[in-house]
Amino acid sequence: MKETVKDFFDKDTWTLTYVVHDAGTRDAVIIDPVWDYDPAASSMSVHSAEKVLAYVKEQGLTVHYILETHAHADHVSGSQILKQHLPGARIGIGANITAVQKVFKGIFNLDPDFPTDGRQFDLLLRDGQTLQAGTLKIETIFTPGHTPACASYIIGESVFVGDAIFMPDYGTGRCDFPAGSAAELYDSVHGRLYKLPDHYRLYVGHDYMPGGRPLAFQCTVAEQKRSNIQLKEDTTRDQFISFRQKRDATLNTPRLLLPSVQINIDAGHLPPPEPNGIAYLKIPIRK
Ligand SMILES: [Fe+2]
Repeated sequence: MKETVKDFFDKDTWTLTYVVHDAGTRDAVIIDPVWDYDPAASSMSVHSAEKVLAYVKEQGLTVHYILETHAHADHVSGSQILKQHLPGARIGIGANITAVQKVFKGIFNLDPDFPTDGRQFDLLLRDGQTLQAGTLKIETIFTPGHTPACASYIIGESVFVGDAIFMPDYGTGRCDFPAGSAAELYDSVHGRLYKLPDHYRLYVGHDYMPGGRPLAFQCTVAEQKRSNIQLKEDTTRDQFISFRQKRDATLNTPRLLLPSVQINIDAGHLPPPEPNGIAYLKIPIRK
């Protein structure tokens, strides 16, 4: 099996969505889709999902799974939109999503019956679990730190790492969200991703095009170990933890954090509509 990877870049949130397929059989999975949200108008649109669906149709792909690397805090997941059009596809996420649901249920004071056992997702993936999407084999490895539920997906020699690590000139994912951990991120990247074969390609969940360089979204394990500006092969755990904590203290809250997290911990569902037919999000006010 040789995996074919197609990237889709959402300029509004700097997010990469991937469609991975086996060129021989057309079996496919979608990783980290986007549902476009305009916070000023509080309106949603589906142009990102439509691009993915057009590609799936044009290539004649059978999508078996829609996989989330984590509950994103910077864009709304397009998984439910895609699932409506791909009824055979099941939505999967790392099983530790339950920890994220519990934390944010409290933060948002969600309805007491909001489930925190992950049942909103079709599939809760365990560390080391292998999924078979037709002829496409997907191995899940847990890579927590950015969030406690982060997972990476290995398909052939391609690895979809979400926000654990970015391109070498940008560094790593922030670790200051509730239940995030710089120590865990170090262990995930240095202890797991950097132990993969040097020629494996890591596909990142975002690219911020530092310094105005063109979009880039994949590089080899060897290249990351040699040149990631925040975490190289010879970076120690203590060095990384102290760097990451200092850096995180300077970062702003992501623009779409509040809407994104509320929807994403509910597997991409909007809250149920109120009697007037309109769905509302909750926005806590901090004093
Ligand atoms: Fe993220």
